[in-house]
Amino acid sequence: MNHNIAILPGDGIGPEIIAEAEKVLAGLQADFGLSATLEHAPIGGAGYEDSGTPLPDATLALAKTADAVLLGAVGGPQWEQLDRPLRPEQGLLGLRTELKLFSNLRPAVLFPQLAAASSLKPEVVSGLDLMIVRELTGGIYFGQPRGIRTRDDGQREGFNTLVYSQGEIERIGRSAFEIARKREHRLCSVDKANVLECSELWREVMNSLADDYPDVELSHMYVDNAAMQLVREPRQFDVIVTTNMFGDILSDAAAMLTGSIGMLPSASLDSTGKGMYEPIHGSAPDITGKGIANPLATILSVAMMLRYSLDEPALAERIERAVGKVLDNGLRTADIAAEGSNTVSTSEMGDAVLAALRNG
Ligand code: IPM
Ligand code: MG
Repeated sequence: MNHNIAILPGDGIGPEIIAEAEKVLAGLQADFGLSATLEHAPIGGAGYEDSGTPLPDATLALAKTADAVLLGAVGGPQWEQLDRPLRPEQGLLGLRTELKLFSNLRPAVLFPQLAAASSLKPEVVSGLDLMIVRELTGGIYFGQPRGIRTRDDGQREGFNTLVYSQGEIERIGRSAFEIARKREHRLCSVDKANVLECSELWREVMNSLADDYPDVELSHMYVDNAAMQLVREPRQFDVIVTTNMFGDILSDAAAMLTGSIGMLPSASLDSTGKGMYEPIHGSAPDITGKGIANPLATILSVAMMLRYSLDEPALAERIERAVGKVLDNGLRTADIAAEGSNTVSTSEMGDAVLAALRNG
């Protein structure tokens, strides 16, 4: 079956890391029977430069018809002064909404070769394998009303709305329970139910879902404690399910446990399994154009895409094995470099993964 893949490189290091992911896709096409058509479109700042909007109509149309979307990153200082609707991030948020990608999977897996690159002691992180399931199309990111207004007393105030419907909570809850079923059957729901009504409902709904998943052990944790536990004893977690903003924050922390945010892929799925795949790191303007960005998160995002949307699990494993082998051989981009490692550029890393793919 031929797969249509929309490629949205975006801004900053986006195009650099996407180029390496495309090498890997080309390798799979040439040698391992992957049949795919790749089409490119601008998003974020690149969309704005191209057609005055961070989510051009043609980009959205392409993403909607594709079987899967591979995205680099969006954003950069040159667009920060634009009106909010024109900023690069709105391109990404718009895609998530338009494609109804409510379930965001952010695995934090430690490659054993990188235990020393973590800011935590190797004995705390070795064997780490957790999955954060982040709600992606609701919560405070999208709640209305929102804005900045001037009060009667002349003070300006900014306001946002944290809102989740029962249906939204159930949908992400089921998604997380199903994932826990395929793993160690442990699900920790993270909320702030001691302060927020929205979290109170969240917790209630999660508890009611638990009846349908008796084989999964459900626990609850307040988000502040969860942040602490993630850096204290991260291996206590199997699957975490949480809201849009808590998930945004906790997934950055979890990423760092694995040595570098440059290692972690993500999947954003709709109810049919169609998805958008992207590294969880951003556009990294500070290192753009230097050829030192780590392409592995994007390459591993391709593996997630093959597994979750394109039904090619064997090819996904092939990529993951190739990445492991390259790390075994001591190759490191600057972000994960250690004493005695061979520090390579972005494109050298991509070439090495491609070579390892072919040899294994
Ligand atoms: C992420 C990013 C985005 C988010 C930004 C770029 C809008 O931080 O995917 O984690 O906050 O969701
Ligand atoms: Mg984030």
